[in-house]
Amino acid sequence: MKENVLIDTHAHLTDEKFAQDKEKIITNAMGNGLVGIINMGDTMQSSKACVSLASEYKICYAGIGVHPEEAYDMHDDDFDSIIKMSKNNKVVCIGEIGLDYYWEKDQEKRALQKRIFVQQLAIAKQLNLPVCVHNREAHRDTLEIIKNEGKGVQGVMHCFSGSMEMARELLKLDWYIGVDGPLTFKNAAKLPEIVKEFPLDRILVETDCPYMAPVPMRGKRNEPAFVKFVAEKLAELKGLSFETVAEKTTANARALYRKLNAV
Ligand code: NI
Repeated sequence: MKENVLIDTHAHLTDEKFAQDKEKIITNAMGNGLVGIINMGDTMQSSKACVSLASEYKICYAGIGVHPEEAYDMHDDDFDSIIKMSKNNKVVCIGEIGLDYYWEKDQEKRALQKRIFVQQLAIAKQLNLPVCVHNREAHRDTLEIIKNEGKGVQGVMHCFSGSMEMARELLKLDWYIGVDGPLTFKNAAKLPEIVKEFPLDRILVETDCPYMAPVPMRGKRNEPAFVKFVAEKLAELKGLSFETVAEKTTANARALYRKLNAV
């Protein structure tokens, strides 16, 4: 088995799909060369769960934040809670935050998503923490907010689904793109071409588990150990060895998520 070090930079082990066998899943991740799993919050409740999972398992770290689809019930004191929680030394970023226009067609609700996104970016800036951004069919607004309200905040566009132009814009801002299962899919469209051109030192590997398992596990429940299939595909596209890609993407994760180095 490969002994290289990998970090799954975007997982959801607090999802109910892992309720029965989390321990086994984490052991399997370690057996597959993982040295880190960053679990991202999507609600206040799951953010808290990510922090407690990180205190329970050395390999786990946490992102805290509220996902756009969950943003409508956010209260003012939730922002204070995020600030308090962020002091934990295993909280590495504010995430996942962003915009989702695929599921939300209502203009007023989209405006609310934007407001919550901007407020969480402001927290990241205030705390000097990076962000993990979810963007689905909201490319233009997401980029505009990152450039304006998010000026000075560094982050990753997770599960990148944009164009080459958008990737280039992110590069100019010193941002990263996150790639996961879809990179390995036959219908991956333009993503492989973008990844070939995009500098390796700006790419993070992730699973977004339990969903979107990469080939050859497509259709199954995804888990952090499967991040190796994403790294393998990335190595193939870049014409590099798996070892090089594992090493570089892990160094990238440590460069963006600086608190990974502190513990
Ligand atoms: Ni996610």
